[in-house]
Amino acid sequence: MRDLTDVASLKTDELQHILTTALAYDQRLAAKEPIGAPLAGRLQFNLFFEDSTRTTLSFLVAAHRMGAEAIHVPVEVSSKNKGESLRDTVQTLCAQGADFIVMRAKEPGSISGAQSAVAGGGFETSILNGGEGALGHPTQALLDAATLLKAFGRQVDQGLEGLTIAIVGDLLNSRVAASGAALFHRLGAQVRLCAPEGLLPEWGEDTASLVTTDRAEALSGADVAMALRIQSERSSEGEALDRETYRSAYGLSNAALQVAKPGVFVMHPGPMNRGVEIEYDVAEERPRSLITQQVAMGVPVRMACLAYAAEL
Ligand code: NCD
Repeated sequence: MRDLTDVASLKTDELQHILTTALAYDQRLAAKEPIGAPLAGRLQFNLFFEDSTRTTLSFLVAAHRMGAEAIHVPVEVSSKNKGESLRDTVQTLCAQGADFIVMRAKEPGSISGAQSAVAGGGFETSILNGGEGALGHPTQALLDAATLLKAFGRQVDQGLEGLTIAIVGDLLNSRVAASGAALFHRLGAQVRLCAPEGLLPEWGEDTASLVTTDRAEALSGADVAMALRIQSERSSEGEALDRETYRSAYGLSNAALQVAKPGVFVMHPGPMNRGVEIEYDVAEERPRSLITQQVAMGVPVRMACLAYAAEL
């Protein structure tokens, strides 16, 4: 069993294998082809200490599609409220037979804490990162990359070479941006990062060809524009931002997208605050908007992540 904690620790052949497997599962799901039950007899727990719709459900759907059993841990009514530590909660799930624990947590260090709990108890349970504070969200990055490979008709080994991807919004507090920018860069894309003053992240310089507060500069000639919401649950700076100012300076509108490449694709990891970081019509306009396809790709990508974790 293997863990999936971050994109950086995936070797290139592992990364390519996950993406290739995901795109193959995507085609098989679309064709309603049976997947068989490669994970029959395996048990997955979803342990989500932060809110989630897409990630938690797509991991449950992915497990079911692969023939595993999957259980959502009701953390809001769990023994956490009685003072139980993360270590004890994780070891409880392991003792009940968990093969996979998909975890989302607020505090940086929670994922490695869960790994230590597994190792400390002598269990063989895979930990999969479903989002860790502002640090990372590796399976979101993988599904965004798979969505782009499909949209541009690329083979996995061609990567995202030659594409310019602009990520616009509250970057400082976005784990989606942190993992996504690193992965897109690794796959050969030019990454541009655009955020209001004070919300530009330190990691920007490592991955981006441009870091700016100017939306037009970021979007100019871009092949892809990704909008991010203000992560107000994680930031006082974000909370203090006026929605209307954010919308007019950082929102994705048809007017703002004028400077991008004709045919620019629009992405958003969800949940969207329509009318703030993205206009209604921009979110809806197909085939330019990939937002629904990102959600759909969440399932085959997480199936591939489970297959990776189980070393299938
Ligand atoms: C994101 C998250 O929770 O990191 N959502 C998701 O997983 N698709 C983005 C967000 O909350 O803004």
